Amino acid sequence: MKFSTIGTSWITEAFLAAASNLSDVQLYSVYSRSEETAKQFAQKNGADEWYTNIDDMLEGESDFIYIASPNSMHYKHIIKCMEKKKHVFCEKPLVYNEKQWRLIKEKASEHGVFVFEGYRHLFSPNYMHLKNTLPKIGEIRSVLFQFVQYSSRYDAFKEGKEPNVFSKQFAGGALMDLGVYPLSMAIDLFGEPMDVDYFPVLLENGIDGSGTLVLIYQGFTVTIMCSKIAQATIPSEVQAEEGTLTVDHIAPIQHLEWFDRKTKETHEIAEKQHQEDMVYELEAFIRMIKEQDHSSHEQWLERSRQVVKWAEIARRKQGIIFPEED
Ligand SMILES: NC(=O)c1ccc[n+]([C@@H]2O[C@H](COP(=O)([O-])OP(=O)(O)OC[C@H]3O[C@@H](n4cnc5c(N)ncnc54)[C@H](OP(=O)(O)O)[C@@H]3O)[C@@H](O)[C@H]2O)c1
Repeated sequence: MKFSTIGTSWITEAFLAAASNLSDVQLYSVYSRSEETAKQFAQKNGADEWYTNIDDMLEGESDFIYIASPNSMHYKHIIKCMEKKKHVFCEKPLVYNEKQWRLIKEKASEHGVFVFEGYRHLFSPNYMHLKNTLPKIGEIRSVLFQFVQYSSRYDAFKEGKEPNVFSKQFAGGALMDLGVYPLSMAIDLFGEPMDVDYFPVLLENGIDGSGTLVLIYQGFTVTIMCSKIAQATIPSEVQAEEGTLTVDHIAPIQHLEWFDRKTKETHEIAEKQHQEDMVYELEAFIRMIKEQDHSSHEQWLERSRQVVKWAEIARRKQGIIFPEED
C-alpha cells in the first residue's frame, strides 16, 4: 500500500521509522507548506514526490494518508483526504469536539473509507497484557494515571512565543496533547465514566499547561495527571482489592508489575516491545483495510467518540473553548 504524509515533525519521522518495518507499506509522497522542507523531507525519507499543495498530493496514487498536523487542523485535513477517497491514519487527538467527530463519521461512510486515530499505546503488546490482567486483580478501587512530561516548547512559551501545543488556536494544552493518552486508556479499559471534573492550571493565554482529570466510575475513581510544564517521576497504578498493577509509563509501557497484596510478591508482566512502537497501531490499521474489517473500524471510531466527548465535557466545564467553538 502506498501512503502520503501531512506534517514533517519528529512524529512523522517516527511513523516512517515504524512503517519501514512493514513490507506491505511504502511512502509515496509528502506534503509541507514549504517547498524546501517538502523536498528535503521527501529525499531524506525516500518519497517519490513532494507537494506544497495538499489537493495536488491527494490526486496521486496513495491508498492512505498519515496526518500529523497541529490538532485544530486534523478535521479539515481528514475531510479533504476522505473526499479524495483516501483512507486516513490521523494522529491523536483525531478531532477536538464531538460535532467534528460526527461529521467525519458521516463522510467516512459516504466515501467508503476508513478513519483511524493513532492511539499507539492502545495497540501495544504490553497494553494487551495490562488489559488481560485486569479481570484477575479483584475489585478495582482507585486508578492513578500520569502523563506529566516537561515540554521543551514550554521554554519557548516562557520566552513570549506561542508554540502550537500551547495555543488555543491549534487546540493545544495538556489535556488535548497528553491527557488524551490516559483518558483513552481509561475509557478503553473501563468504559465511559459517569462524570468527569477537570482541575486545570491555566497559563496566561488561557491554555491548560497542566491539569488533573477525575473520572467517576461505579465503585472507583480514575485520577489522571497530565502536564507539559513539569516532570513526574512516579509510575501509574491500578489499585485493586487483591493487589496493585504498576505501569512505568503510559506510552509506551516498558514495565508492568503485579504486586500481590497477600503474598507480598511482585511479578513483571511486560515483554520487550518493538523499539518503534508505532508499528503495532500501523499493523492494526493496515490489517483493517486489507480485511475490510468494518467491525473494528466502528469499534475504534466509537472509542474515539467517547474520548473526544469526555475531553470536551471536561474542557467546557473549565471554559477552555477553542476559537471555532465560540
Ligand atoms: N502519537 C504520538 O506519540 C504523538 C507524538 C507527538 C505528536 N503527536 C500528534 O501529532 C500531531 C503533530 O504534533 P507536532 O507536535 O508535530 O505538531 P507541530 O510541530 O506543531 O506541527 C506538525 C506539522 O504541521 C505543520 N505545521 C506547523 N504549524 C503549522 C501551522 N501553523 N499551520 C499549518 N501547518 C503547520 C508543520 O509541517 P510543515 O511546516 O512541513 O508544513 C509541522 O511539521 C499532533 O496532533 C500531536 O498530538 C502524536
